[in-house]
Amino acid sequence: MPRLSIWAVRLALINFITGFTFGMLMLWNKGMFISGHIWRLLPAHMELLLLGWTAQLILGVAFWILPRWRSSRGDTRPAWAAVIFLNLGVWLVAAAPFLAWLTPLSLLGRTLEAAAAALFALHAWPRVKPPAV
Ligand code: HEM
Repeated sequence: MPRLSIWAVRLALINFITGFTFGMLMLWNKGMFISGHIWRLLPAHMELLLLGWTAQLILGVAFWILPRWRSSRGDTRPAWAAVIFLNLGVWLVAAAPFLAWLTPLSLLGRTLEAAAAALFALHAWPRVKPPAV
């Protein structure tokens, strides 16, 4: 497994555990009320599980299995940038409700996420080809 995939899958697992824990807390709070503030975890729950876990797991495995040129995966720099931007973006959006005084935080996070998607597509596009080409 290439180094980038190792990092992406491990980060995805961290987001998975964190996102599930937040979901569990919200569910608990619905049955046995703890605090209204628990609902501020909802954006983090959604962000960590939809993008931080699901999308990142796909990214990590896609980087690993998409066709190569002999042993080369081409220019891997956009893919590395995508992993970094995706995680920074997810964590910024997740933290935004707790840092309300930093209003542009969520927007910055979403911009990083969109950049991550574009960068990974840039890396992966030429690798979407028959194996022998
Ligand atoms: C990959 C797994 C999961 C994904 C992608 C996911 C995604 C989401 C999303 C998008 C929402 C917002 C729904 C809405 O506002 O209509 C949500 C809400 C919620 N999730 Fe999850 N979730 C996952 C797993 C879990 C787990 C394991 C738990 C609990 C142990 C959980 C507990 C909750 C709760 C309590 C809510 C709030 C529901 C409400 O509005 O009453 N989620 N989840």
